[in-house]
Amino acid sequence: MKKFPKDFTWGTATASYQIEGGWQEGGKGLSIWDAFAHTPGKIKNGDTGDAACDHFHRYKDDVALMAKMGLKAYRFSIAWSRIQPAGRGKPNPKGIKFYSDLIDELLDHGIAPWVTLYHWDLPLALQLELDGWLNPAMPEIFRDYAAICFENFGDRVQHWITFNEPWVVSILGYGQGVFAPGRVSTSEPYQAGHQILRAHAKAVALYREKFQPKQNGRIGITNNCDWREPLTDSESDRLAAQRALEFFLGWFADPIFRGDYPDVMRERVADRLPKFTPEDKTLILGSADFFGINHYTTLYAAEAKGKSAPTTPYGNGGISEDQDVLLTADPHWDKTEMGWSIVPWGLRKLLHWIDDRYEHPEIVITENGCACSDRVSNSKVHDAKRIQFLSDYMSEAYRAIQEGVNLKGYFLWSLMDNFEWALGFSIRFGIHYVDYKTQERIPKDSAHWYGNIMKNNGL
Ligand code: GAL
Repeated sequence: MKKFPKDFTWGTATASYQIEGGWQEGGKGLSIWDAFAHTPGKIKNGDTGDAACDHFHRYKDDVALMAKMGLKAYRFSIAWSRIQPAGRGKPNPKGIKFYSDLIDELLDHGIAPWVTLYHWDLPLALQLELDGWLNPAMPEIFRDYAAICFENFGDRVQHWITFNEPWVVSILGYGQGVFAPGRVSTSEPYQAGHQILRAHAKAVALYREKFQPKQNGRIGITNNCDWREPLTDSESDRLAAQRALEFFLGWFADPIFRGDYPDVMRERVADRLPKFTPEDKTLILGSADFFGINHYTTLYAAEAKGKSAPTTPYGNGGISEDQDVLLTADPHWDKTEMGWSIVPWGLRKLLHWIDDRYEHPEIVITENGCACSDRVSNSKVHDAKRIQFLSDYMSEAYRAIQEGVNLKGYFLWSLMDNFEWALGFSIRFGIHYVDYKTQERIPKDSAHWYGNIMKNNGL
């Protein structure tokens, strides 16, 4: 039996726009994802998150599902436009009440809420009026929103995550334009990322100054990174893999854990990469109580020598020209429904890379999971491939812990099938199957399996 440390946190994760629905209810304002999903051609099959999993109305049933499988922690995100419909100004009492009730319901069932403040659904007004994350005024505006959340929920929430995956917001939202707000540019990703880092730091500073002393919670950020394995032993491929990781994870983690952007980004991106002021640097350095990481897949990296990298619908690791990295998959690797290669050892290598580069931080895997083509038969879903995936990835996480990595938690993406962004409802990541016509939830085999893992605190 592979026993995890006693204080290890096991959970599942979701995000507001992907599950809530109720897009025009409870005084909610529109978000950039409402607008993006309603723009023809942006989402597969014209799907939208208008109703999604109807979690807005069914949250009690969903908490009951969690309790039934013995879940101890649940990561969800707050829709900013429920709290402040136009992104600024007076809080909306109905929005506050929704999350307050959800938090109470979780606590009543012994489930710890891990709350993400921003999982991509920016209030639309801030995009229209200010150009969203490009605007240097955004960090203060985000801090004010965060303050409302700390004030209203911080008495019961002990784990805060400011941003989910700034890399995705920057590259897919402002670089490739496949996610909201749909901008295409080679400089805007770096500007957006810069303001997100400043916003993160401002919210953390406020939390630490005003709330943490009384509320005793912890705050961090979730970054995402695939593993990049050198294609060959050559020095140029090893450097290419390292460069790819620094452009992916170092971009956001270096300023927080080391004090500035990676040198390799400074050199290559040059004037398109904004500079932190000395005050920014002081505020950003050390602004995380733990290291949140989402991880899904691995690719080989080689020096591109001008060849362009393959592009998947969800990006290829950043702006290829800036990195000069060619990414490839081993044709023998099995793939998920996302087309992502299943390479469990990539997780262990990534955990070690983080451990080395950031000097042994406390790491929490805030997302990991597998998209499968699930089918219901006799009210059951036999998702053996997902169970294999999870078991293999968890085994590698276990090994990393044995080897000294300070890994403290694992959140499975996702509690239930949901709106998978540009791919709509065509992709299923859940351990509960959702029938979108009836909104019925069916526990898949993986839900039972994961329940046992949590009960035994091990594999
Ligand atoms: C992450 C994201 C989640 C989920 C997952 C699977 O990047 O945070 O919202 O969609 O990927 O694609």
